[in-house]
Amino acid sequence: MRRRECDSVTMATREVTLVGRYEIGSELGRGDTGVVYRARDQRIDRTVAIKTVSVLGLEPDAEQEYRQRLVVEARAAGRLSHPRIVTIFYVAEEPYNLTPYIVMEYASGRSLEEVLCTENGTLPLDTALQVTQELAEALDYAHAQGIVHRDIKPSNIIVADDGHPKIDNDRPCHEAFFCTVPLSFSTQ
Ligand SMILES: Nc1ncnc2c1ncn2[C@@H]1O[C@H](COP(=O)(O)OP(=O)(O)OP(=O)(O)O)[C@@H](O)[C@H]1O
Ligand SMILES: [Mg+2]
Repeated sequence: MRRRECDSVTMATREVTLVGRYEIGSELGRGDTGVVYRARDQRIDRTVAIKTVSVLGLEPDAEQEYRQRLVVEARAAGRLSHPRIVTIFYVAEEPYNLTPYIVMEYASGRSLEEVLCTENGTLPLDTALQVTQELAEALDYAHAQGIVHRDIKPSNIIVADDGHPKIDNDRPCHEAFFCTVPLSFSTQ
């Protein structure tokens, strides 16, 4: 199979950039493990978010293991259905450059990280309590399904315009298999 090292989406076979059936739009943000794009699912005709996951710098064995774990973890996360947790729709590898990607619900709003930056690092007490309670309920639901997120942080929480938070769900793990082995590109 032909393989190209690339950490971005590059299947520009038409005027628009496509990944599978998804039409890539603007970049929503980027983190330690990849880039998140707004995209359109052409078949369902809905907006989604796509996270492309970088595998650059991994040794071949580690890369293989990482790719497999990504799929297993996306499957575990994909079982979750909760209004305060971003739903996972699909996981695959881009056929041209083999970049792994995760398709998920698009959560409109701003990350809690962004919110805190613009609010000088604090929220009004009643807002903080409401957000905390809703997040705790969502995590309790996930834990009851045997899923542990492991990476709760402000950039993984998106606060909608109505003030309700959603947990970004692209790096959870299944308790039975992965909690002692963090999914990470670092070499621990
Ligand atoms: N499902 C989504 N809907 C809308 N925006 C999203 C979604 N997922 C992520 N984002 C946006 O993209 C940004 C980057 O997300 P990403 O998960 O890549 O970064 P991170 O959480 O800092 O890092 P990582 O999760 O890799 O440790 C987020 O802060 C958020 O603003
Ligand atoms: Mg994230």
